[in-house]
Amino acid sequence: MAPVRKRQPQNPSHAPGGARPAGGKGLLGRAIVTGGAGFIGSNLVDFLVGMDARVLILDNFCTGRVSNVQPALASGAELVDMDISRGQDLNRIVASFQPDAIFHFAAQVDVRDSALHPATDASSNVIGSVNVLAAAAEHEVRRLVFASTGGAIYGDAACVPTAETEPTKPISPYGLSKLSAELYAQWFHRARHLNVVTLRFGNVYGPRQDPARGAVVARFCEQAVRGAEFEIFGTGKATRDYLYVGDAVAASFQAAQRERLRYCVYNVSSGREISVHELASLITGLAGQAAGHLNVKVLDARPGEVSRSCLDISRARDDGIIGTLTALDAGITATLAWMRTSQPGRAVGSSYRRAR
Ligand SMILES: NC(=O)c1ccc[n+]([C@@H]2O[C@H](COP(=O)([O-])OP(=O)(O)OC[C@H]3O[C@@H](n4cnc5c(N)ncnc54)[C@H](O)[C@@H]3O)[C@@H](O)[C@H]2O)c1
Repeated sequence: MAPVRKRQPQNPSHAPGGARPAGGKGLLGRAIVTGGAGFIGSNLVDFLVGMDARVLILDNFCTGRVSNVQPALASGAELVDMDISRGQDLNRIVASFQPDAIFHFAAQVDVRDSALHPATDASSNVIGSVNVLAAAAEHEVRRLVFASTGGAIYGDAACVPTAETEPTKPISPYGLSKLSAELYAQWFHRARHLNVVTLRFGNVYGPRQDPARGAVVARFCEQAVRGAEFEIFGTGKATRDYLYVGDAVAASFQAAQRERLRYCVYNVSSGREISVHELASLITGLAGQAAGHLNVKVLDARPGEVSRSCLDISRARDDGIIGTLTALDAGITATLAWMRTSQPGRAVGSSYRRAR
């Protein structure tokens, strides 16, 4: 496998000068990123390549894009087009690459699809995750960072902002499958001594997020750039907290930096709760449209989505997983700028090396 060409550490994709993780290359010489052609994964890959890590991307391109990984491939990252539900292939790749760390970001991420096709969701999110964990344990990978979800795991939480100690009550197959993977991660830690950190992300947004796939910031930014009306599902009173992708990358990097003796779960988000309606107003203003000139089309609420979601991020702050966060207006400005200059590419399935 070709060595990675040296490059200056770069701010995770198009970051507006937000969070930068402290420390240099640290313990990460070689890293595998599952789901590395996706939205968050590809931003993480760029960052790791910029830190001189040797990076192998594993992705089946069901939602990932070649255009997301082209900059990293040009800088020496490697790519295998494969499905993580194929355990033997995965095991062989981990054995041959011998990563210091695995960042497990591959997943079926669509809440509505998970309700329509729960077995497909479980195949990627449960079986695929177990395969990743098993390969990491078998080949004594020193650390594994698992991208889980705060929004879908707590369900309609009694306490908002919601801490990691609150009960988990998923209301969608997606939430169930991510929680199952967390429980398997915990088992692999206890029984097989795998060093795992689980990050429960809030609503991550930023460059490379596909507006066609439903995430509200990406949709509103795309609609604002087109001058189209904002489509709001339900009353617009539902709340979320939003995390800039550069901050998600920084937290993932920090999570992989330290050896840990205990299994750790962290909420990773902004901790700032805002309604969909407030978000629409903010994006309208940042897109340069007249304040108060909100052009909204109201649609039926979508099933399986919680009414309030905001994470308590005290634990991640106290343990140094989260540092200074990118302000929402700065992150949205960067996202709008990307939306104006980018044509989202096509998802493709077979133009790169396939696992045999
Ligand atoms: N975006 C968010 O707001 C958010 C919030 C919480 C958690 N997460 C988690 O972060 C991770 C990344 O999410 P994202 O928003 O970047 O989504 P994404 O769909 O852009 O990325 C997922 C990637 O995984 C790949 N993939 C899916 N199934 C696969 C399989 N079986 N084998 C190999 N590759 C497969 C896809 O092709 C894609 O490139 C996911 O695990 C998701 O659950 C995301």
